Amino acid sequence: MRNIGVIGAGHVGLVTAACFAKLGHNVICADNDIEKIERIKNLDMPFYEIGLEDMVKETLEKGKLYFTETVAELTEKSEIIFIAVGTPSTPDDSADLSSVENVTMEISKALIKIKNTSDANIYKLIVEKSTVPVLTGEWVKKTLELMSPTGIQFDVAANPEFLREGNAIKDFLEPDRIVVGVENERAKQLFEEIYAPLKSPILFTDVKSAELIKHASNSFLALKISYINAISQICERVNADVEKVAEGIGYDKRIGKHFLKAGIGWGGSCFPKDVAAFIKLAEDLGYPFFLLKEAQKINKEQRLLVIKKAKELLWNLKGKEIGILGLSFKPDTDDVRESPAIDIISLLLKEGAVLKCYDPKAIENMKKVFPDITYSPTPYDCVKDVSLLICLTEWNEFKTLDFEKIKSLMKIPHIIDGRNFLDIDKLKKLGFIYKGIGRS
Ligand code: UDX
Repeated sequence: MRNIGVIGAGHVGLVTAACFAKLGHNVICADNDIEKIERIKNLDMPFYEIGLEDMVKETLEKGKLYFTETVAELTEKSEIIFIAVGTPSTPDDSADLSSVENVTMEISKALIKIKNTSDANIYKLIVEKSTVPVLTGEWVKKTLELMSPTGIQFDVAANPEFLREGNAIKDFLEPDRIVVGVENERAKQLFEEIYAPLKSPILFTDVKSAELIKHASNSFLALKISYINAISQICERVNADVEKVAEGIGYDKRIGKHFLKAGIGWGGSCFPKDVAAFIKLAEDLGYPFFLLKEAQKINKEQRLLVIKKAKELLWNLKGKEIGILGLSFKPDTDDVRESPAIDIISLLLKEGAVLKCYDPKAIENMKKVFPDITYSPTPYDCVKDVSLLICLTEWNEFKTLDFEKIKSLMKIPHIIDGRNFLDIDKLKKLGFIYKGIGRS
């Protein structure tokens, strides 16, 4: 059992803090957003994540999880400090590391204070948890060395997260692997200890390789999706079925069946930002990463496919009523950041379409992006009198809708399935005119 600090109560930070507390460690989580901290303490989670509220409740009640607004208190009380603050994109696509730098400075200030008030031997392990470009660890170390008093020992490590929204707790507790970049044996042993309750393999590397693994991993997954989306474009042209093609290639263990789901492309808070940052980083290092640029381009083109199909079905979109089911960038989350739905809704509005939208969780967040469109209280309200229904997120609850009722409510039973998740045969039997992505 160790004293662990997590700076940042965002998606990664809060899940990391709650899960380490669940594993039995004493965890203190800091965020400078006082309102957010108060909300969490009152069990009002700032975002939707399956199982998180229960875990926060349980660990708070057991006294294993504690919240603070100050990095100073966290630094004093923790031996291992995870930095899990945001690293948003800058206008030139590189990662904005100012929060990481600020937090590092605050840790340094806290270390000076600790040294001034104690003669004890003090050791801190500072860990990058946020997605950061390679070489960030060196900057963190340099900053700490410059600012911190002599007599305090510390190490810097990288332990990138691979948490998927909607599956984050499971991904933390049962990861495929844990990646840790360390500089020495002392840090390595601490990681072995804090992750001991998990059964997953731990890959120890140097700090730079661990940083690279994160960007390389996310970019590869985005690339894999773009690949199958490119195949979907070929399928469209020859009337083949991309779902069958994906199944056929996925059986090959060297390829694998995961992340081969064709559709309207990848979104979310990670893939778009990380791929862009990786391209920029590579460029800065003198390597033009054309492969990833092409993956980005394919991703954008998938959004356009929906508009093309809508026009094939409805001719002009001006004044046409269209229902949109699904707004979040994927199911089981209320997150709409970089959601394909944002691009598609923008394009449809530009064409003059009249939209009604529904999502089980993401309506409030989408209202901040599009305050002036209509949001429906149920999927059935959303389809009333529309000439086209477009499904943009593969929520489970959409699979079990009463499509007979939907058909009777719609003006014309046109459907575009942007995620290829609906029962095509059933819909066609009911009389829908169905268009999927790379299958029809
Ligand atoms: C991702 C990574 O999976 C995770 O390891 C990392 O830590 C953070 O980024 P997340 O953004 O939560 O996680 O979502 P993910 O499930 O990976 O999906 C990303 C996007 O790709 C979504 O828009 C999803 O709809 C899309 N996607 C995924 C596809 O279009 N096809 C697929 O086969 C898989």
